[in-house]
Amino acid sequence: MKTEIANIRREYSKGGLKRSDLSDNPLIQFQQWLEEAISLKVNEPTAVIVGTVSEEGKPSTRCVLLKELRDEKFVFYTNYESRKGQQLANSPYISLTFLWHELERQVHVEGIAAKLPAQVSDEYFRTRPYKSRIGARISPQSQPIASRMDIIQAFLKESIRYAGREIERPDNWGGYAVSPSRIEFWQGRENRLHDRFLYTLQSDWSWKIERLAP
Ligand SMILES: Cc1cc2nc3c(=O)[nH]c(=O)nc-3n(C[C@H](O)[C@H](O)[C@H](O)COP(=O)(O)O)c2cc1C
Repeated sequence: MKTEIANIRREYSKGGLKRSDLSDNPLIQFQQWLEEAISLKVNEPTAVIVGTVSEEGKPSTRCVLLKELRDEKFVFYTNYESRKGQQLANSPYISLTFLWHELERQVHVEGIAAKLPAQVSDEYFRTRPYKSRIGARISPQSQPIASRMDIIQAFLKESIRYAGREIERPDNWGGYAVSPSRIEFWQGRENRLHDRFLYTLQSDWSWKIERLAP
């Protein structure tokens, strides 16, 4: 029997959000929500949906893992020649959506992405597990491949090539730092009357805070 998905409904009632609950700085507010998500052991608390734009102005999204908040920027790592990497080379405009179902919370970020300095990506690359470092070297991320066997063979070949040696970060792999210009905090409420607060970056670098209709 097919489930009638239109009938799947849940009330959101975990909590409310008032202006007086919020920090004046959205990065501090984000850090606090992230810490709560981590301490409450939500599934993949750092998972974030990244939206980029194609040359034709078409949106595309995928999930990555947030790895750091650095100088008030959101940092993630990927292959610079992947689909998202190519799109970001063409247009740096980016969106990030964090969704913590267990807390009935989401955060939307919009901003501009820039590649991290090479030495910062190097430092992070060294902390990755050995096999992930090999994987980053051999995967032509987002390119069509003939078979899984091809990628496994490339993985084994590279593992032998690097046996007993430090694995270098490939030039086509590294981090992006996202400078936010807009950050929205959303808390689910009863009867779909959710609480939403939007922070918008002003020309004097202060943040304007507004409540939005649900
Ligand atoms: C939970 C989760 C975490 C992921 N983390 C990353 C990541 O940190 N970096 C990355 O490049 N891809 C990550 N991926 C894979 C991406 O979603 C995506 O398949 C890949 O980056 C290629 O995307 P693109 O072809 O749009 O560039 C993750 C996927 C999932 C489901």
